[in-house]
Amino acid sequence: MSIRCLITAGPTREYFDPVRFISNPSSGKMGFAIAEAASALGWTVDLVAGPVSLPEPVGVMLYPVVTAEEMLRQTDALFGPCDVLIMTAAVSDWRPKVCLPEKLKKTGKNLSVELEPVPDILATLAQRRRPDQLLVGFAAETESVEENARTKLSQKKIDFIAANSVAGPAGAFGRDENQLILLGREGYRQVIGPASKKVVAQKLVAELSAALATRSC
Ligand code: CTP
Repeated sequence: MSIRCLITAGPTREYFDPVRFISNPSSGKMGFAIAEAASALGWTVDLVAGPVSLPEPVGVMLYPVVTAEEMLRQTDALFGPCDVLIMTAAVSDWRPKVCLPEKLKKTGKNLSVELEPVPDILATLAQRRRPDQLLVGFAAETESVEENARTKLSQKKIDFIAANSVAGPAGAFGRDENQLILLGREGYRQVIGPASKKVVAQKLVAELSAALATRSC
């Protein structure tokens, strides 16, 4: 069976003037490793990535974006024909209400920047999903990792969530190793790693492959 996979990776950036933005330390390594693992299995892979410094994975269609709004638009455009959506992107949850056209000059005084929420991409797409599509989220947590991830699994109405600790220097952001707790519906729970992100990606894709095979029976 030929499988079409849509992956998001990296951070998003939200600018408040042409040279300043809010974002997070996501490197995109996990999402890129999953794209490579999926491509190696023969899946057709679309990879929507925020600003990262990683080489383009071989055999994968890369769509660079910057903001959450751009990521939503690009992912939405590619979502229809996909069999699996894997959202590893660390979407910046707020954006400045205003982005100034020129660099803001410092005054020596405090600065307040009003932020507004960005759309939840995964929850938005889940609302118009087909039942045969597999939707996988990544929960970036600093505490109560598994419990918080399970809440997101049900709130976002998705099939799997990979609980991922991003607390402190041992957290997942930017590192070459990772450990995931893959949670599914009806009590499914699988610990993947600790291992290199490459190995974690291969194991994750194998789990999803098995889940897809069950669905298509
Ligand atoms: N996500 C998304 N759109 C957002 C925020 C998150 O699609 N605006 C996706 C992420 O790509 C991830 C999942 O939702 O697959 C969980 O993201 P996470 O950052 O862990 O949680 P949030 O939903 O942002 O909630 P919170 O920041 O309160 O933990």
